[in-house]
Amino acid sequence: MRHALVRRVPDSMARGITRQRLGPPDLALARRQHEAYARALGSLGIEVTVLDALEEFPDSAFIEDVAVIHGGVAILTRPAAPERRGEVEAARPALRSRMPVRDLGRSGPGFLEGGDVLFAGRELFVGIGERTDPAGAGRLRQRLLSGDPTLTVRYVPFRGRLHLKTGLTALGPELFVGDPGLTLEGPWEFGTVRWLPAEEGHAANVLVVNGAGLFDGSSRSARTFVTDAGLRPIPLDLSEFRKMDGGLTCLSLLW
Ligand code: GLY
Repeated sequence: MRHALVRRVPDSMARGITRQRLGPPDLALARRQHEAYARALGSLGIEVTVLDALEEFPDSAFIEDVAVIHGGVAILTRPAAPERRGEVEAARPALRSRMPVRDLGRSGPGFLEGGDVLFAGRELFVGIGERTDPAGAGRLRQRLLSGDPTLTVRYVPFRGRLHLKTGLTALGPELFVGDPGLTLEGPWEFGTVRWLPAEEGHAANVLVVNGAGLFDGSSRSARTFVTDAGLRPIPLDLSEFRKMDGGLTCLSLLW
């Protein structure tokens, strides 16, 4: 990956959607954590563009949810959360100035958020949960396969976590790290999942980029799993985003 878009944390962050009962975020700390995240990406040779904060959209720092980038094309999503839909149009100009942009669809059924889209080698897993439904997943599948017919797209119904990647990410094509708080509603037949201890489950949201695995917190197991996968572990503290039901992968769009 050579480029990343991140979006500054708005003053309104505490008004975002969350079911966590971890208290309100400390805005100043969230901003420091966000800056450290962007610096970590920069240290991996990624050119990081920081977009302006959007005060009217408290969750807008979770920019991953508004687009899926694959094969040099960005597909703008349709968030399930009505209060997040305006974030999509807000991201359009920044994406359109960098790559071709397509829409998942502006009307009709279906919703999908980027946090449910997990690439692992030539496989793409689309989580079906509260933020992505089969119709939205089907639209993504159709758009991606028209540009890249070699991709295998699989749907993964789950519950227990906001997005699929909140609780399951890929360390390699057939190696995954999981949060036991995520329940897969079917057998997992696509490789090995290494499950974290429940109290370290948030560290399952690993961002694998340029030979490194960035994870949230000080989980020893996550460090071991990331290292065993041949990746350089980079622990970050994203406690304030966790309070808002947001993960580390949600904070950037990468290509
Ligand atoms: N706070 C992240 C989300 O609910 O979308």
